[in-house]
Amino acid sequence: MLAPCLLTLASFLLEAGAQMSSSFSRSLRRDGRCIYSFSVAGPAEDACSEPGEALAAVRELRSEREGQQRELAELANRLRLLESWMVRSQGQLSGQQGESLNLLRRLQELEQENRQLRAGHCPQAGRESQQGAQSLTGSSSRQRTQPDGRASSWRFEDRGFQELKSEITEIPASSLIQRSDPGGQDTAPHSSGCGMLEWVGDPVTFQKADSILGKYGVWMKDPEPVPHHTRDTIWRINTVGTDVRLLYEYNDLDQFVKGHPSKVYVLPEPVESTGSVIYRGSLYYQKRKSRSLLRYEMKTETILVRKDLTNAGYQGVYPYSWGGYTDIDFAVDEMGLWVTYSTHQAQGAIVISKLDPKTLQMEQTWTTTIRRRSVANSFMICGILYTLNSYSNRHAIINFAYNTNTNTSKVMNIPFENRYRYNCMTDYNPAEKKILAWDNFNMVMYDIRLSKL
Ligand SMILES: *[C@@H]1O[C@H](CO)[C@@H](O)[C@H](O)[C@H]1NC(C)=O
Repeated sequence: MLAPCLLTLASFLLEAGAQMSSSFSRSLRRDGRCIYSFSVAGPAEDACSEPGEALAAVRELRSEREGQQRELAELANRLRLLESWMVRSQGQLSGQQGESLNLLRRLQELEQENRQLRAGHCPQAGRESQQGAQSLTGSSSRQRTQPDGRASSWRFEDRGFQELKSEITEIPASSLIQRSDPGGQDTAPHSSGCGMLEWVGDPVTFQKADSILGKYGVWMKDPEPVPHHTRDTIWRINTVGTDVRLLYEYNDLDQFVKGHPSKVYVLPEPVESTGSVIYRGSLYYQKRKSRSLLRYEMKTETILVRKDLTNAGYQGVYPYSWGGYTDIDFAVDEMGLWVTYSTHQAQGAIVISKLDPKTLQMEQTWTTTIRRRSVANSFMICGILYTLNSYSNRHAIINFAYNTNTNTSKVMNIPFENRYRYNCMTDYNPAEKKILAWDNFNMVMYDIRLSKL
């Protein structure tokens, strides 16, 4: 009884191998209860993860399971609708109907599994991934099987901890059956008001970089432009290379899509990574190989302010999980300019500082309980920091929120698609209420919806 249920015990090596390792196991006790356990070994300087962090992770697992149950219920409804629609239009759609029946069968199995779990029994090892791979392959573009045909779901080797968590939340109903846009028409995002993020749409691709220099980068708009720029103006920096200094400007989306810049600025100091933003006519960025924050004014083409971000880790000390020296990340939202980073004192947890955009003076600082290395990216909306759990899993989730208005954090479970599976930049634009991202050469944008507060 124990043997089939003891799924796996694996180590995950994060970026560069030696930084941090974790293990996860699921096993069945003699009394028939499941035990989910994992451990995260930290680097020497912060030897144990804080109790708060472990608790948050447990809460997150629990909420993911609940989210999965909600998704299953949603899937059931959609399948029932699809079923009845297909019965009505029989004859033309026999192929799709077969697929629908497969999905129904799969759904019933998952429901059965959920019942077992609720009743305190482990589902049988292997079954889930095998059957999942069989019935899901071909029905969507998700990649559950390895090239050699093995199911990937429970193969944790060589995977980051973040990917593991994403695997747990797989099976979003929305990706099996095309979801109608819930952000449309009557429920359009509030154009002025603030709220909690509750939904992120599918990515829309605007541009694809045509050289290796564009694998990573950042594209930006100014939510509060100064003349002669407008809200349509777009800026772009390709960040591959050791001496990144070119800032491309495009008059509008059309020129951006065509790849016709109207101006190219040569920055006096090179740029580190993908954390920069444009705000009120200035580019804010981290100077390469330093913790210096620079404010470059485009009108005068000069650096107006430079300020050291005291104690901030840089050059791969506290980066996002994809690495890339992403230790320092600017953000802009309805409240203004922010920078997120970490310090030795914060033991690698995300620190948020509100900045005066004129002087780069710190106005206020918050220390969260979210380990910076464990998330793929983050962005601010209405004074709330949101984190993304994976940069490479197509079906990622926004897994955590920290509210600087109340100093409270919350586990989230909002699906987020990394369509090109290497998301190196994720920023919010408060003027358009959209998320801009750079995903593996591709510049993409997401609609969002905020709840009323
Ligand atoms: C939240 O934390 C900040 C920074 O530590 C502090 O200045 C502020 O008073 C706190 N606010 C609340 C509502 O607790």
